[in-house]
Amino acid sequence: MKKAEKSKESKESNKKQIDFRKMSFYQIWIRSFCDGNGDGIGDLYGVYDKLEYIKSLGVDGIWFSPIYPSPNADYGYDISNYKDIHPDYGTLEQFKKVLDRAHELGLKVLLDLVINHTSDEHPWFIESCKGKDNPYSDYYIWRDPHFKGETKLPPNNWYSQFEGLAWEYNEQRGQYYLHVFAKKQPDLNMDNPKVREEVKNIMRFWLDLGVDGFREDVINFISKVPELPNGWSFVPAINGLPFYKDGPNLYQYLQEFRDVALEYGAVQIGEAPFTSVKTALTYIGGRHRVLDMLIQFDTILADCFMTEYVYHGFRLRKLKRAFGKWQYGLQGRAWFALYLENHDHPRVVNRYGSIQYWKASGSMLAACYILQRGTPFLYQGQELGMTNIALSSIDKYLDVAAKNAYNTFFLWESVERRLARIHVSTRDSARTPVQWTNGPNAGFTTGKPWFYVNPNYTFINAQTEEQDPLSILNFYKRCLALRKRSRTLLHGTYREYYPLSSKIYMYERMYTDQGRGLEERILVVCSFAAHDHSYRMPRGFNYKKAKLILDNYISEEEMKAGKTAEAGTLRPYEVQVWKFRKKLSV
Ligand code: NOJ
Ligand code: CA
Repeated sequence: MKKAEKSKESKESNKKQIDFRKMSFYQIWIRSFCDGNGDGIGDLYGVYDKLEYIKSLGVDGIWFSPIYPSPNADYGYDISNYKDIHPDYGTLEQFKKVLDRAHELGLKVLLDLVINHTSDEHPWFIESCKGKDNPYSDYYIWRDPHFKGETKLPPNNWYSQFEGLAWEYNEQRGQYYLHVFAKKQPDLNMDNPKVREEVKNIMRFWLDLGVDGFREDVINFISKVPELPNGWSFVPAINGLPFYKDGPNLYQYLQEFRDVALEYGAVQIGEAPFTSVKTALTYIGGRHRVLDMLIQFDTILADCFMTEYVYHGFRLRKLKRAFGKWQYGLQGRAWFALYLENHDHPRVVNRYGSIQYWKASGSMLAACYILQRGTPFLYQGQELGMTNIALSSIDKYLDVAAKNAYNTFFLWESVERRLARIHVSTRDSARTPVQWTNGPNAGFTTGKPWFYVNPNYTFINAQTEEQDPLSILNFYKRCLALRKRSRTLLHGTYREYYPLSSKIYMYERMYTDQGRGLEERILVVCSFAAHDHSYRMPRGFNYKKAKLILDNYISEEEMKAGKTAEAGTLRPYEVQVWKFRKKLSV
């Protein structure tokens, strides 16, 4: 068959892709989501029970962080079997029940595809260690030691992002293996066609079962420069980055995986640390894109330098620059994944909001990102305004990255100072059990929770917030509902005003409906100030014609009864959303 005919045929056999642009997603980090069988660990039984709750938020799908068997060196991101469910979380059968029920409720389901590395307990790695001539010998990145006299040295000077050097010597094989993350996460050799076939196989396994797509872990790291040259960066943890990020064959490999996804109409969201707009566009731009959206990092680094451990305090202008960079950069070219939290970052209320104005800031932050152009992602507990936990000793933390940061950097500082750095930076703050009720263990489990429950569950919990019309929970629902019914918010353009203000973030979404002869503008005005603050509407916006459509100080009911806000003044962390309509002249 000729190439053109073949590609035509495969295009025809492709299923229609799911409409990810109109959707929003809820992320589950299962271990802390909800325990259904009383052993203290979140699981798929708990998820099943909470599917209606998830639906009630107004989202359209779920992304599961890894639920596969894993020794949990990196809580699921070290996989020892790609085609099964971790026994802590249930069985394949239970997963299928969750999937079917989710589909009945109209929720799509995405899984995490972690293919940059496996666990060192994966059978492929165990086999690969056995020598240079077994079927799995070339599944990982092995290199001979480099000798200086008698001394055995690693093949290059790269550091890992999680634990010391990026190389670990394996006695059995007599070689070093590469691990860009923890020692227990050996990098796969994606240049080996057999490994890529395995990846496609894994994708098909889950797609055949009915899942709707994947979030793809550190996907821009999967192709390495084959020579693995020494790095030169002053930041050791990323000195190898230029040689393993956006490697020479990345596009080709993504294309191969894309072909599989498209047969099923699946959606693909790639996580891409350290990526630029220009590079992102090569993967997500246009019809021939190999991914649908990218998870960038700029918008979650507004209070730190490169990593949360190097904290410098929140800077609104830095956040706005990051928003603008991606909104303007992708507008008209590609689609964006909007998020402020996930399992890798501390809670956003602590970071960008205010504990003093917890309710106002937690709800303002919802509108501040959900109403931008893109597909919003919410992380479990974010919709409740869950906050960071401050544990009294480093020994109580579990995250490999936190422990490494604590034991490697700022060693000259006092224990208290370093612990304070952990408090503002650790991923463990996002991993405390979800607070469902004000009852024992926050309603997360009837057993002993596997990790600390944040003591503030007595007032931050779903049950209490459901009753409060002005709760963060109810405000998330209002934002998602508003977005869903507004063409302007779904499809309109983005434009920012007053970029230099360090207290106010203001942007417009604009949509021209030629058919109805209407132009609609929605102006989102967010205060990041802990006091009243005045503002002016930009030129061309007429106060008198403004209609308030959302405000975190005014409940839905009060709005329906006609209550409005004072345009031009914001209370602490208030968000006002104004609508303007104009008839187009013919
Ligand atoms: C990104 C994941 O989100 C994170 O949790 C994990 O530790 C690293 N990738 C390595 O897999
Ligand atoms: Ca359980």
